[in-house]
Amino acid sequence: MTEAIRTEDLVRVFKVKGLEVRALNGVSIRVRKGNVVALVGPNGAGKTTLIKILSTLLTPTSGKAYIIVSTAPQYGRVALQVSGGQEVAPTHFAVSGDPIVKAVAEFVGGCGAGRIYAAIEPNGDVVPCVFLPVVVGNLRKQSFWDIWTKSKLFEDLRDRDRLKGFCRVCPYRNICGGCRARAYGYYGDPLAPDPGCIYNLKDWKELQAKAPRVRLAEQPSGQQSSP
Ligand SMILES: Nc1ncnc2c1ncn2[C@@H]1O[C@H](COP(=O)(O)OP(=O)(O)O)[C@@H](O)[C@H]1O
Ligand code: SF4
Ligand SMILES: [Mg+2]
Repeated sequence: MTEAIRTEDLVRVFKVKGLEVRALNGVSIRVRKGNVVALVGPNGAGKTTLIKILSTLLTPTSGKAYIIVSTAPQYGRVALQVSGGQEVAPTHFAVSGDPIVKAVAEFVGGCGAGRIYAAIEPNGDVVPCVFLPVVVGNLRKQSFWDIWTKSKLFEDLRDRDRLKGFCRVCPYRNICGGCRARAYGYYGDPLAPDPGCIYNLKDWKELQAKAPRVRLAEQPSGQQSSP
């Protein structure tokens, strides 16, 4: 798929006091990767409804929406929750209603770092993901197979029992697992809880409280700043 977003005949009908409101009536769009698009229309045109469907917060009445989501493993959980258990949108491979891919997604879903992919730097360094700069080996010294099968960090990332905090016990860990790069970015530990998830709000608040504050110098009253 060369598009980052594709929809086919999207229809969304709301029922309000017995009346049907047709918010979307057969929307088919294609947006290529890297393109920036503006959605313009009068109030009530259906813009918010379309965005909600694209972000998996709402399911369409009929039609299909294909999107590529990246580095947001929580979308797997969100999609499952808002669709009442029907859909999973695991990061790094999307699925809409296919039972086999859904089963695979629950097994290897969510953050794929070191689980279903790795990144190779130009100097041969192998890292679990382009956003997770922990070098686990180098192709000039070892084969990719050796690195892929023997790295301790890859082993850790493949076992969600080794995660920490709520990500370890979360009922959605198999389809999410948290962004391991974000955990590393904030804690220096790729197995730490992902502070970008609403379920880890407590950890996020603790991080915020510890973050260094920069105090801007106050200008004495009546003094003009120099140009
Ligand atoms: N949750 C809802 N329940 C009932 N009607 C809704 C709901 N959400 C949107 N609508 C109706 O769907 C139409 C499109 O709304 P919306 O997508 O919010 O348009 P826009 O964002 O372009 O203003 C409107 O007629 C709106 O009243
Ligand atoms: S707590 Fe962790 S595993 Fe659960 S949904 Fe949030 S990021 Fe994913
Ligand atoms: Mg709106």
